[in-house]
Amino acid sequence: MDERVALVTGAGQGVGRAIALALARQGAKIVIVNDYVEERARRVAEEVAAMDIGVQGVPYQANVSLWTDVTRMIDDVGSKFGSVDVLVNNAGNAGQTVEDVIGWSREFVETDPDHWRAWVDVNFLAPMYMTRAVLPHMIRHEWGRIINVISEAGRVGEPRLVVYSGAKAGTAGFSRALAKEVGRYRITVNCVALGTIDTPSVSSVVGDATLLKKMSARYPLKRIGQPEDVSGLVAFLASDNASWITGQTYGVNGGYATLP
Ligand SMILES: NC(=O)c1ccc[n+]([C@@H]2O[C@H](COP(=O)([O-])OP(=O)(O)OC[C@H]3O[C@@H](n4cnc5c(N)ncnc54)[C@H](O)[C@@H]3O)[C@@H](O)[C@H]2O)c1
Repeated sequence: MDERVALVTGAGQGVGRAIALALARQGAKIVIVNDYVEERARRVAEEVAAMDIGVQGVPYQANVSLWTDVTRMIDDVGSKFGSVDVLVNNAGNAGQTVEDVIGWSREFVETDPDHWRAWVDVNFLAPMYMTRAVLPHMIRHEWGRIINVISEAGRVGEPRLVVYSGAKAGTAGFSRALAKEVGRYRITVNCVALGTIDTPSVSSVVGDATLLKKMSARYPLKRIGQPEDVSGLVAFLASDNASWITGQTYGVNGGYATLP
C-alpha cells in the first residue's frame, strides 16, 4: 500500500480502530482516523504513530452523518494529502455510548419515526456522503478502494433491530450498484458483514457471563468475534491483491450466517 492515503470512519474504538491499525501495518502512507469523539480519534492516531513504521496517523474529528462535516473533512484532507485512496466506511450503530446502541433495541411497532433518523443517517447516508465526497479523488487517480462495514443483520434480518437491518441492507445494495459504475476507474466497492464483535458497543453483552455464553452458543465457532477477526479481511480488500474483487459482501461471522 505504498503511498496510499487511507481514511477509516468511526475509527476511535472497536472495529474501526483495528482496521486503522491493520492498514498502517500493511504500509499505508497516511491513515486518517476519523471519529466524532475527538479524544478517541486522537488516541488511535497516536497508536498508529507509536508503531514507528513510518506511517502517519492523522486524527480527524467529524460527524460523518452530516454532509457539511464530510465535505469539510474531505476538502481539508484533499488539500493536505492529495487524495483518499482507501475509504473504509465503518462508523455505524447510532450514538456514542452502549446505552445509545443497545438500549434502543425494541420491536419495530414500538418505534417512532423520530428514532429512525439517527440509525439511517449513520448506517446508510454516511457511507454515501463519504463515498460521494472521495470519489472525484479516486476517479482522478484511476484507483480506489471503498469498503463498507455492514452487519449480518442487513442480510438475514435481526428482530428488534429492524431499522438498523434495513439501513445496512441499503448500504450493501448501494455498494453493488456503485461497483458497476466505477469499476472502469479501477475503483472497487465491497462490504464486510459482521456478526457480534467484542467492542465497546456490545460491552453490556460481553460483560455479562450468562449472556455471553448464550450468545457464543449461537455461533458454530462458539465464540463472538474480535475486531482483529475483521481487520485482516479489510486490509486484504484494500490491497492490490484484491484488484479483481468488487461488488461483493463477505460475512465475518463465526459461521452464524452461511449464505450462498
Ligand atoms: N460490534 C458488533 O457486534 C457489530 C456487529 C455488526 C456490525 N457492526 C458494525 O461494525 C461497525 C463498527 O462497530 P463497533 O462495534 O466497532 O462500533 P462502536 O460503537 O464500538 O464504535 C464506533 C465508533 O464510531 C464513532 N462514530 C459513531 N457515529 C459516528 C459518526 N456519525 N461520525 C463519526 N464517528 C462516529 C463512535 O464515536 C465510536 O468511536 C459499525 O458499522 C457497526 O454497525 C458491529
